[in-house]
Amino acid sequence: MFLTKEEEKMANGEYGETIRKSMDILIALGDIYGAESFVDIKSAQVSGVSYKTIGEAGLEYLQDLADGAEIIYNENGTINDKSGISTISATLNPAGTDLDNWEEFGFPVDFAKKQIEICDAYSALGISNTCTCTPYLIGNVPRLGDHVSWSESSAVAYVNSVIGARTNREGGPGALAAAIVGKTPLYGYHFDENRKASLVVEVEDKLERADFGALGYAVGQIVKDGIPYFKLANKTYEVANSNLKALGAALASSGAVALYHVENITPEASNAEAENVEDKIVISADDIKETREKLSSAEGYADLVCLGCPHASLEEIQELAEIVKGKKIKNELWICSSISVKAAADRMGYTETIEEAGGHIVLDTCMVVAPIEQMGYKVIGVNSAKAANYVPSMCGLKVIYDDIENLLDFE
Ligand code: F3S
Repeated sequence: MFLTKEEEKMANGEYGETIRKSMDILIALGDIYGAESFVDIKSAQVSGVSYKTIGEAGLEYLQDLADGAEIIYNENGTINDKSGISTISATLNPAGTDLDNWEEFGFPVDFAKKQIEICDAYSALGISNTCTCTPYLIGNVPRLGDHVSWSESSAVAYVNSVIGARTNREGGPGALAAAIVGKTPLYGYHFDENRKASLVVEVEDKLERADFGALGYAVGQIVKDGIPYFKLANKTYEVANSNLKALGAALASSGAVALYHVENITPEASNAEAENVEDKIVISADDIKETREKLSSAEGYADLVCLGCPHASLEEIQELAEIVKGKKIKNELWICSSISVKAAADRMGYTETIEEAGGHIVLDTCMVVAPIEQMGYKVIGVNSAKAANYVPSMCGLKVIYDDIENLLDFE
């Protein structure tokens, strides 16, 4: 890789050990993927947060990095430099617990304490512990064409496809290193020529709600790490951003999709050269129905209904509040979201409505990265194809995949 003089100093440790270690990771990644240089980034989204997934080794690595990070002050108290601390917009992925209310929800004590240590180390590195996979709902919002380094797969799909910023599917350590130095190796999805469609998907019938996740799951298995171009039967105004986030999350979990286009909807669809694509498939209503059925590994009663994968928007919390208003829910109900979205839900009265019905807005975590298998739950109800895909393998529990009303039981 070509390094500028400044990048050489960073790599040689002239700006401290945390930056040197981060440059080591990024140069190694650049060499593996054939990058010729670095590009400055505007934003990072860092995964590898839950103690369930990174364990003791991950915690030690982060604390070691954080030990080398410091703010250097001038004699008059102004900031001279930040060594090893991110100075770009950088946010964390979901953690393994609700960081504030872990006791109330019954998260294991030792696990929660380790989780807080992990988040503290990230904070010391300048990564905001807002802990969400939908950072684009809470202020980490790049612009069309911006180079960024994001690592949570559903967030990668969203930021590339719906926002039109540019990232590869980074791993947690690579995105963290990029956040710290403000650069990422320039290759892959950062280039125009790697953002063209590779498969055209014609969807015959209009989709509703959990159909979008089923579509993503079915197509992800076919397209793998390619770039699907969707022609939907729905009118543009009938497709909400929540539908797109569900679609992208599912594509990224059954396949390795980092970018998709939707005709007349996503910002780069008109540059995707879909007219030159030879591979075409048609998805029928029967295909969607069959996929929805396949995504369930249980039927009947879900002892925990867990919504908000990817983390819920205010509109999704509103929808839930309208469904449960004035009723009493029999199931345990979590809707996972971020602290900022919940603040808005509190003000709108949605939180109170959901809590009066017996449900909870759970912050910072989700059904996949939380240790729900240690909390006595057996069957999990989800309206996310990504969660339906991962809960059996990551938690060893059965799932029911359906729309919200069909998952909830009322007294
Ligand atoms: Fe987010 Fe967890 Fe789903 S990280 S995309 S809510 S599996």
